[in-house]
Formats: sequence, C-alpha cells, structure tokens
Amino acid sequence: MAKLSVRSLSVKGQRVLLRVDFNVPTEEKDGRTRITDDTRIRESLPTLKHLIAEGARVVIMAHFGRPKGAVNLKYTLRPVAEHLSTLIGKTVLFSSEVIGEVPRGLIAEMQDGDVLLLENVRFHAEEEANEAGFAAALASLGDVFVNDAFGAAHRAHASTAGIAAHVGKAAMGLLMEKELQYLQGELSEPARPFVVILGGSKVSDKIGVIKALMEKANTFLIGGAMAYTFFKAQGIPTGNSRVEADKLDLAREILALAESKGVRFLLPVDNLETQEISATAQPRATGVHGGAKGVSEGWEAVDIGPETVALYRTEIASAKTVLWNGPLGIFELPPFAAGTRSVAEAVAASGAVTIIGGGDSVTAVKQFGLADRMSFCSTGGGASLELIEGKVLPGVAALSEV
Ligand code: 3PG
Ligand code: MG
Repeated sequence: MAKLSVRSLSVKGQRVLLRVDFNVPTEEKDGRTRITDDTRIRESLPTLKHLIAEGARVVIMAHFGRPKGAVNLKYTLRPVAEHLSTLIGKTVLFSSEVIGEVPRGLIAEMQDGDVLLLENVRFHAEEEANEAGFAAALASLGDVFVNDAFGAAHRAHASTAGIAAHVGKAAMGLLMEKELQYLQGELSEPARPFVVILGGSKVSDKIGVIKALMEKANTFLIGGAMAYTFFKAQGIPTGNSRVEADKLDLAREILALAESKGVRFLLPVDNLETQEISATAQPRATGVHGGAKGVSEGWEAVDIGPETVALYRTEIASAKTVLWNGPLGIFELPPFAAGTRSVAEAVAASGAVTIIGGGDSVTAVKQFGLADRMSFCSTGGGASLELIEGKVLPGVAALSEV
C-alpha cells in the first residue's frame, strides 16, 4: 500500500495546503529572533520549488515551539516567512491568522506560483486536539493536501493528520518520501552486516528501537550514558556516571535477548572519565587508570575511550548498512567529543548505506562537517525513532493510497 506522492498530482492553479516542519532552533539576539539551524527549512525546499514550478498556489502550514493552544508571539512564524523568502528568492506572504477571513482574503489574491505561510497552527488548542471543525477550516483554505512534515508525522494533529479527511487528495511531499525510503525502505531488508550505533543518555528512550532492531541488526555498538546502565546491570563499576537505576532489569533483559538471538551487543571496553564537566576538563581513559573497564570511584564517564573507538571503527568499516541514533559522549564539549567524532568519521568513510536517525546525532554529524558524506540524515527526532520502532505514524497513515 503505497502512498500518493506529490509528483503524481497535477497542481496547476490549485491551492495546495503544504504541511512542513519548520520547528527550527532559534536564539534571541538584539531583540531579534535568529534561526540557528535552518536544515528543516532547507530540506522542505525541493517540494516547495516543485509546487512553485508546477504553478500551484502554495499555502504552508507549520508549527513552532509549544505555545499550548494560545496566541504567543514568542512563537510567531513571521521570522521564518522572512527567512524562507530569502531562501527561495521570492516574497513569501504571511497570514497573521491561521484560519478564517484573514487567510481567505490573502489566498483569494494569490497567483499561480505564489507562496503564503500561515501563522503557527499551535496558536489554536484545536490543532493538537485534532478537532474536526478546525481541520475542516484549514482544509477549506485549499484544494489538496501535501504533507512534508516528517518531523511532526508522529503527532495526530489537525494539520498533520485530521485535515486529510476533509480534502480530496492527500499526498506525501518529497522530503516525507525520502525519509520513508531510508528509515523504512532501506531498513526493511538491510544489506548485511547491519550495524546499529546507539547512544544518548537513556536506555528507556531507546527500548522500543532496540527491541525492533534486535530482529534485524547483526551488531549493536553502544555508547553515551546509556552504556553505564548496562554496566551497572552487569556489576561493572560506574563511578558517578549517569545511570538509570530503575532500568537495570530492562538492561539485563536486552542483554539476554541479544544473546538468545545471536546479535552482537557491544559495550564500551574503555571510557573517558572526568571529575569536572567543562570545556577545559582533561578527562582520562579508564583503561589506563584503574585497570578494568569500569569507571573509577568519584569519576564520571563522558565519552567512549580510545580502544572502544578503534573497536567500533573496525565494525563500521565492514558494515553494509549503518544506522546511528544518539551521540556517544557529551560531544557539545570539545574534551568529550572525540569518540562521537571518530565514529562519525568512520561512518562517513564507510561504503555502507549510512543513515543518521535524527535529533542529536544529526546535530553532531553537522557540527563535524560530515553530514554531506552520509547517505541520509533524518529531519525527525521522535518521528524517526517511532518509525524505526515500527509504529504507524498518523501523518503518514492519513495520506491517500495510490
Ligand atoms: C519536533 O521538533 O520534535 C517536531 O517538530 C514535533 O514537535 P513537538 O515535539 O513539539 O510535537
Ligand atoms: Mg519533539
């Protein structure tokens, strides 16, 4: 059951309601909102340019932050409209109201190829409630619906899912298509060896993903603070490292599952440990100090150690498919970034299909300037995890079948 693609729509002169994920990181500087990473906006350009070239009248719907159903200009999308205008070299109209007479009037004046951005859909509580009347009011502003908001596809909201019931056709955009191709298509029957690199702070965040991938992966390479929950579960010293003390049984269950399935589940053989979390800290490798692979009393593990880096790089070099989610150390601080960086370099250099599963791991790969050397970097955080887990994403389920 394939979903309808925007490529198959004839959109000339049509009002296309395009849902995107423009939920980008920003900072306030000199009283102005500055976008610090516009990747999600740039990744939506292929669909937008396609629609413009085909002569559609594009009405963009997006959310920004979590204004909790009330108008709050801290979360206005107006700066995004300006930025988008610069990116496409064409004025993007802005409607300060999401539904009703204001957008209706502006849309009535639009010509083929024009683009308009509606204010933050989350200024209405009905958006997250997926209220049918609100979905219908949004739908009445256009003729067809195109969903390119992969990053928000795990939300069953009015503009991501509910709206589809009120339009004749609901198609996926080009970014949505690419995300599904890599995170679903490539991973359904991955070329082997299939190596999964998992990091981040909590085992509990990744439990669904680990269990789902246990059915497919040949090898897991574990890093980040979650490694120390596995240490603790096996009685290996963890010092002051972050551990999920209430997830030890779960960790043991995962280790037993890997063993019973013949999946290799590799934990760090050494770590970097520190007594100070700062940009000037000088961590030491646990293999050198303290002998065993555990973390020293009074010290905190903040990165995988050099022997682990070497081990993981060898595994990555022989992989045919690599999926990575979650950094392997506190990469935001230079003294603790080496493990994540070295592994990122190995992934970039490998001949495998390399998929970076969104969130912090994509931020890391970008910080190291390696994003272009990966087969695919997802724009989704929670959405990519849920998709890999095998969950149905409401924003995808709602689309028309072909
Ligand atoms: C995100 O950035 O995670 C998506 O845009 C969805 O936003 P949300 O987590 O606030 O629903
Ligand atoms: Mg989120």
